[in-house]
Amino acid sequence: MNRFFTTLHLLLLSVSAASAFDAPGFVSTIFGSNQVFQHSEPLTIFGWALSPSVSVSVTLTAADGKKSTTTTNSSETAYYGAYYRWDATLPPSPPSFSEYSLTISSETTSQTAEMTNLLFGDVFFCSGQSNMQFSVEGMLGKDDEIAAADDYGGIRMFGVGQPAGQLSGPQQTLPTVALPWTVVNSKTIVTDPGNGDFDQFSAVCYMSGRHIFTDILKSSTPVGLISSNWGGTPVEAWMPEDQLKGQCDGGKARDDKLNLDASSGDDWNPNADHVLYDNMITPFEKLVVKAAIWYQGETNVGYWNYDCFQSLMVESWRKMAGWGDMAFTFVQLAAYDCGGSQALPDFRGVQLKAVDITPNSAMITAADLGDVGSPDGDIHPRNKTEVGRRLSLAIDKLVYNKDLDSAHMGPVVDVDGIRILEDGVSISFRGDTIGGGLHLEEAQVCPNDELCGNAVLSLSGNRGDVVIDDVVVVGNSTIELRKYGVDGSKIVGVSYGWGDFPLLKVFSSYGVPAAPFKAEV
Ligand SMILES: *[C@@H]1O[C@H](CO)[C@@H](O)[C@H](O)[C@H]1NC(C)=O
Ligand SMILES: *[C@@H]1O[C@H](CO)[C@@H](O)[C@H](O)[C@H]1NC(C)=O
Ligand SMILES: *[C@@H]1O[C@H](CO)[C@@H](O)[C@H](O)[C@H]1NC(C)=O
Repeated sequence: MNRFFTTLHLLLLSVSAASAFDAPGFVSTIFGSNQVFQHSEPLTIFGWALSPSVSVSVTLTAADGKKSTTTTNSSETAYYGAYYRWDATLPPSPPSFSEYSLTISSETTSQTAEMTNLLFGDVFFCSGQSNMQFSVEGMLGKDDEIAAADDYGGIRMFGVGQPAGQLSGPQQTLPTVALPWTVVNSKTIVTDPGNGDFDQFSAVCYMSGRHIFTDILKSSTPVGLISSNWGGTPVEAWMPEDQLKGQCDGGKARDDKLNLDASSGDDWNPNADHVLYDNMITPFEKLVVKAAIWYQGETNVGYWNYDCFQSLMVESWRKMAGWGDMAFTFVQLAAYDCGGSQALPDFRGVQLKAVDITPNSAMITAADLGDVGSPDGDIHPRNKTEVGRRLSLAIDKLVYNKDLDSAHMGPVVDVDGIRILEDGVSISFRGDTIGGGLHLEEAQVCPNDELCGNAVLSLSGNRGDVVIDDVVVVGNSTIELRKYGVDGSKIVGVSYGWGDFPLLKVFSSYGVPAAPFKAEV
């Protein structure tokens, strides 16, 4: 095991429940100076007063001095025995790099808070397991990215802390904050708050946001990034309890070892059902986000119905007040040595199916981005720059330029477009997924044949399988394999990239590879 999982293991053994919680503040800790709020949407600020039914005033002041104030009353119901929630909603503000400030006060209880250097832009929520947690410091190409970060003060980041114990049920306040809202620069993107491995800001989240900011928004709109993740955790930890009552069962997918009762006993286990949803998602309920970015699944490899879990999770997140119809983008698992069984390729196939059952979603593949030399283990490939770039293309299509073609996801095979030729096989891709046309790339070098086996294209015939990497592009949307040389064998199936460590060769004009696929012919 690599050092990250070892640390996590120790963490599991050593913590006790319900320790190290921050008391609910006068203003929720999801807010703070340097924050980017979602532009053109009502802005809800909330917190807790020390008495019931007291008046709380919230004033937003623009750089030109223009003010907007709203007054609300704290509730009559106590939260944690002594705190009374208040919510105040201000009207929408346009995108802005000029700094706003917020003043929040209760005359009755003399509580006040002040936040400065606030911007309005687009807000993204990043979540998942260790490949999302993986820090900027560990990624390939970090030196250039870190140096360039001094130009990106329009990007602001917030890191959710990993609680040392759980509170039962969906929380309104974050148990702990790792990184309060912080302006991106070359120091802050590699600041280590000191809670363990992969603890600096998420590389995938930052690189997605950086590409959105520079390539799509052309630095015209601020970007806010929220990172809430935990290595080694299954999807069930990120879903609400009521969605785990059998909707996705009916098969042998779930490993009962994971199905721990979150509320029993003192032992805090971040792998338990719904605990991370309750402690690291719901505290953001009223914060408006534009899109979510999800990189998770390694822990769920083997689930034939992961698509069901993931789509229910998205549905539950979208039910939160500020999340509405947010776009949802996710990463198809990268190449790593998963033991060479069919489990990892099959799981990638299930991830691909999830796109079809989740409206307003997109998947990008990382299946070609393997990295056997990664010091954090091959399960943690370091090319997060490219993962972020591909995610930003998906977000461009879902959020900013809906009429773009779908080539952002990489070419998608047309299953009715696979034909057996006299001396080969011809495979067509959907015309809306190729951009300006398909091309081939020598994506990677295979680290060893056992890992790559059926990596490129394999034809199954009644006399066994043949593996072929001799592919040509014909026209804009078709690839052909010629002289496959299966003597007298009748070809019954085609699979592309169907291995732990696929070598993907077929790319759209955006430089995004076709995700692995398998089809009968
Ligand atoms: C707050 O409470 C006061 C006194 O009970 C009441 O007059 C006022 O209408 C309330 N304001 C809001 C915004 O509910
Ligand atoms: C990451 O992957 C992309 C696509 O394969 C490649 O062009 C790029 O050079 C890689 N980045 C690094 C730093 O290796
Ligand atoms: C390929 O696509 C380009 C640009 O869309 C188009 O002009 C060209 O005619 C296409 N070629 C073929 C062979 O379909």
